[in-house]
Amino acid sequence: MKSSSNKNNQPIRAAIVVGARPNFMKAAPLIEAMRRSGRFEPLLIHTGQHYDAAMSDAFFRDLDLPKPDVFLGVGSGTHAAQKANVMLAIEEPLKNIKPDLMIVVGDVNSTLAAALVAKKMQIPVAHVEAGLRSFDETMPEEVNRVLTDHISSRLFTTEEAANRNLRREGIADGKVHFVGNVMIDTLLASKKKIDASHVVNDLNLNDREYAVLTLHRPSNVDNKDSFVRILSAVQKIQETLPVVFPMHPRTRKQIAELGLDKYFDDSPQMKVIEPLGYIDFMRLVAGARFVMTDSGGLQEETTALKVPCLTLRRTTERPVTAEIGTSIIVGDDKNKILKAVSGIMRGRVKNGKIPKYWDGRAAERIIKILLKTV
Ligand code: UD1
Repeated sequence: MKSSSNKNNQPIRAAIVVGARPNFMKAAPLIEAMRRSGRFEPLLIHTGQHYDAAMSDAFFRDLDLPKPDVFLGVGSGTHAAQKANVMLAIEEPLKNIKPDLMIVVGDVNSTLAAALVAKKMQIPVAHVEAGLRSFDETMPEEVNRVLTDHISSRLFTTEEAANRNLRREGIADGKVHFVGNVMIDTLLASKKKIDASHVVNDLNLNDREYAVLTLHRPSNVDNKDSFVRILSAVQKIQETLPVVFPMHPRTRKQIAELGLDKYFDDSPQMKVIEPLGYIDFMRLVAGARFVMTDSGGLQEETTALKVPCLTLRRTTERPVTAEIGTSIIVGDDKNKILKAVSGIMRGRVKNGKIPKYWDGRAAERIIKILLKTV
């Protein structure tokens, strides 16, 4: 990136792109830090990859995000259609906005599609949460991660493994900045609101007497064998304690399509609920005895909250959560899941340490670096 921050002392116009649920909590602290610096003009672009009230609007409310300056309304579709639609829809607004910089976060389809268009328009791209690798190329996000990193001018990382991955792929050290985790910025900043949520009470639960399950990854819910292995483990677990399952729309669709309703009909302590907003969901997680998930972000949030996490995946692009955090990688192996749960119920839990720079100040570090380099 070349230096342009001094041009007439104008604020730096920074387009920040969000599309899907896990993006919203990453954008919020960046926008806040830009505002605080007084040197940026943040412009929020929502692609509309996620569009339901529960998957999008609730997060804007909970995180005090400003109304998007631009809404592209691309919606769902195949990967090709979704990316193509973002690319087509974002070009014109970028021509009008003429940003000095585009910030993309995470690894969803909207992240790569937006980054690619900006790169072709010679708008420098900064990627927040760069360098993560699961080394599983069947995972759609893995392709998005690698490609986004290789067209970005600034890469902001959350853990040491990401720095090593980028170095191995030949990305110049000077572009890479180890800053910590913006999602944990949001978690720490929201603590008061999270503590005040009544969701645990409202669900007639008590802290530490329930588990939380989230599941939406294609490798688990589009594959009947994997899905059945996980559901039969959960069916067993709910005999011991209630399992709250805020269900992703994709998962709900797959249960109907694969005819898996019986796992729910025979499970009186499995509490299926609609997806929750950010604050209520974090309160639910904070109070759980343990969490079972295939989400990327939740592996990190449970580590930050010191809640045991069974990661329902064979690989993780966030190894620090298993190395020093509270996560145990169990895949879709019923025996491994049940063994880990039985350990937790007998008090055998990983204490877990908080990874370096997961201290609530990652966005501030990013903005300082961007100020010097844009
Ligand atoms: C996307 C991201 C994934 C992220 C997840 C969080 C990609 C490749 N995947 O996966 O990394 O972990 O978001 O949720 O970008 N749907 C609705 N309403 C919505 C959104 C989706 O009903 O607001 C349904 C649609 O039927 C859609 C399906 O969910 O086809 C999947 O949505 P999509 O955005 O394609 O992928 P996710 O599985 O949500």
